[in-house]
Amino acid sequence: MDDLSKHLKPKNLSDKVALGFTKFLRFLADTFFRKRYGHRAVVLETVAAVPGMVAGMLIHFKSLRKMEDDKGWIKTLLEEAENERMHLMTFIHIAKPTWIERIIILIAQFIFIITYGFIYLVSQRTAHRIVGYFEEEAVRSYTEYLHELETGKIKDQPAPEIAINYWNLPLHSTLKDVVKVIRDDEAGHRDVNHNFADVIDRRTRIYKSINIEKKNKKQVNKDSTNQEVKEN
Ligand SMILES: [Fe+2]
Ligand SMILES: [Fe+2]
Repeated sequence: MDDLSKHLKPKNLSDKVALGFTKFLRFLADTFFRKRYGHRAVVLETVAAVPGMVAGMLIHFKSLRKMEDDKGWIKTLLEEAENERMHLMTFIHIAKPTWIERIIILIAQFIFIITYGFIYLVSQRTAHRIVGYFEEEAVRSYTEYLHELETGKIKDQPAPEIAINYWNLPLHSTLKDVVKVIRDDEAGHRDVNHNFADVIDRRTRIYKSINIEKKNKKQVNKDSTNQEVKEN
């Protein structure tokens, strides 16, 4: 399987919930935007810029509260949020949303900040899996967008200056080049977030086995104490 069509098969209920949630949002995006990829990108990127910041903030406070190292997660998540914000800034120049569309974007942002924050507090693992699946969809959407640009169904145009500066692109770059680098970013976020969910899985398994070991040790100590009492 090549990097663009990577898909993580759901392994348990948390994965199925994450995939179901993603498919539902994909259905909404397909219904509202169809092939208006520029507008679709604006709304999706406005939502995509939320998880990194929300998760980074929550882990930051957890790290302060528990006085525990974050293992570099906060920096990675904040960089993801910054990168997604630049995707949004780029597509604002392409789609030039009207004031009504801007209001819809604001509402989408508000709803998603609350929803994602809630999901993160309930299940950090599911929250990262959701972003992993979101990014799989983002890679697919940008591949379709690129296809429309390459076949001339959507007219190509010069890359916005903000994108040329941010990704260090050649000055004559076009929208096609921008879509390609954004798609690479999305593939990176996909792998990072799926990996975070897997790391949480491994940690949970380790904690469980440590607890079982502790319980067994306690039981052995109890049994030997009882034995000693009986003998005396
Ligand atoms: Fe993005
Ligand atoms: Fe992304």
